[in-house]
Amino acid sequence: MRILSIESSCDDSAMAYTDSTNAKLLWHEKISQESAHSQYGGVVPELASRLFARDLVQLLESFKRQFDLHDISHIAVTYEPGLSTSLLEGMMMAKALALSLRVPLLGINHLKGHIYSLFIEQEAVFPLCVLLVSGGHTLLLECYDYNDMRVIAKTLDDSFGECYDKAAKMLGLGYPGGIIIDSLAQHAMNEGITPVRLPIPLMNNPTCDMSFSGLKNAFRLQLESCDTLRELAQKAQKEQSQSAKKAYQEQILQSSEAKALAAGLQESATTHVIQKCRKYFKNQRAIKHFAIVGGASANTMLRAKAEGLCREFGRELLVSPLRYCSDNAAMIGRAALAKIEYELRVESQLEGESLKVQVDLENGCEAWQNVSAIALDNSFCDKGMQAQKIQREDNSCAQHNIPPLHNTQHHNNQYHATPHKSHAKSAFGNLFALEISPRNTEIEWK
Ligand code: KG4
Ligand code: ZN
Repeated sequence: MRILSIESSCDDSAMAYTDSTNAKLLWHEKISQESAHSQYGGVVPELASRLFARDLVQLLESFKRQFDLHDISHIAVTYEPGLSTSLLEGMMMAKALALSLRVPLLGINHLKGHIYSLFIEQEAVFPLCVLLVSGGHTLLLECYDYNDMRVIAKTLDDSFGECYDKAAKMLGLGYPGGIIIDSLAQHAMNEGITPVRLPIPLMNNPTCDMSFSGLKNAFRLQLESCDTLRELAQKAQKEQSQSAKKAYQEQILQSSEAKALAAGLQESATTHVIQKCRKYFKNQRAIKHFAIVGGASANTMLRAKAEGLCREFGRELLVSPLRYCSDNAAMIGRAALAKIEYELRVESQLEGESLKVQVDLENGCEAWQNVSAIALDNSFCDKGMQAQKIQREDNSCAQHNIPPLHNTQHHNNQYHATPHKSHAKSAFGNLFALEISPRNTEIEWK
C-alpha cells in the first residue's frame, strides 16, 4: 500500500509518498510561498490559494515523472485546521485523485500531522506529552493513540509562532518572523548583547495555559521607545522598492538594539512556555516521553530549554528533524498511515460480538450537518453486529450536531450505506465517501 499525501493548510504546497508497509517515506517535495507573502508581513489568503492552484499541479507532475499513479492505494489530505481557501485547494485535488483512481480518501488533521512528524524517521512512541508550537496553535497535549489526544493547556490568545511573526513584522523584517527573530537573538547571545527585559506572561496563573499577546505588546512599546530603530522599521515597512527595503532590513539586522529586543522576546517567550511545561511535569509523572512539534519547535532556545527540562525531570525529549518541523506532506502521510492502522484495529474489534461500532468522524463536521440520519443495511448487520451509535471519546458528535446512527435500513431513505464483501471495511469506506461529498444530498454508493 502506498499513500500519496497532500498538505496545503497555510502557505506551503507539499506532496509526499509513503510506503505503508514499512512507513518509509519514498518521496517528498514542497514549494514554499514565503517569498510571495513576505512583502505583506503575513499570509494573504487570496494570493495563497492562487499559488496553491499552480504549485500543487506542479508537484503532481513531478510525482508522475517518478511514480505510477496506479500504484497509489490511498490519498491523504490535510482537511483542518488552516486557512479555508488554502485547504480547499489541496482537498479539491485530493478528491479528484481519489475519485478518479477509486482509492479511499483520508482527511488528516494538520495538528496530528505535526505530532506524527516525530515518527517519519523513528518508531512511534506512546504515551507522549507534546508541546505543539506553530503559527496558529500553542497546545500542551497528552497523546495516547491516534484517536486519543487530550488538550491539557493552550494559549489564551496569540500563538508562540504568531508572536514571533508579529514582532518581525513590527521590526519591518517581513514574514515568517520566527527564524528571523531566533537568528537575531542568537547573534545577540554570541555578541554578548544583553537582552531587553520583557515580562514573562501568566507567572502567577495557576494553570498551564499560555499567553503571548501581552508580550507582543510589551515588545511593541519597547520598540516605540527606541527612536532610531522605530524609524528604520517604519521605513522598511513602507518602502515600495525591494532593493531599498532590503537595505533598510540589513541595517535593522545589524542593529544591536534590534538584537537586544529580539533576544528579550526569545528569552520571555521560551521561559514562559517552559515554566508552564515544568508546572505540568510536576503534577504529571507518568508519561516518560516529551516532544516539541510544529514549525516553531525549530526554535534554538526552546529546544535547548526543553532538553534542560527533560534532564531535570528524567524525561526523554523527542523532536522532529528540522526539515519536518514546518508544514510538510510527509507528516500527513505518516499520520494517514497511523489512521489506517487505527481503523484496522477498530475493524478487528468489530469481529466477534462487540455491539459498539467506533467510526472516526473527525472529518465530518461540515458534511454531517446536512445529514439527518444514516442507516446501515443488513449486509452489515447480518454479520452478527449491530451498529448502535457512533461514538467518539470526546463527544464531538454532539458538538457538531452529528445525527445518531440508526441500525434500521434506509432510515428516512436519505442516506444508506451498502457495504459489500468486507462489511466493516466497506462501512468505513462508505463513511469516507460521505465525508468527501459535503453538501451533496444525492450520494450514490458504489
Ligand atoms: O507549523 P508551521 O510551519 O505552520 C503552521 O502550522 O502554522 O509553523 C510556522 C510558524 C511560524 O509562525 C514561524 O514564524 C514559526 O513557526 N517558526 C519559528 C521558528 N521557525 C519557524 N518560531 C520561532 N523560532 C523559530 N526558529
Ligand atoms: Zn503547521
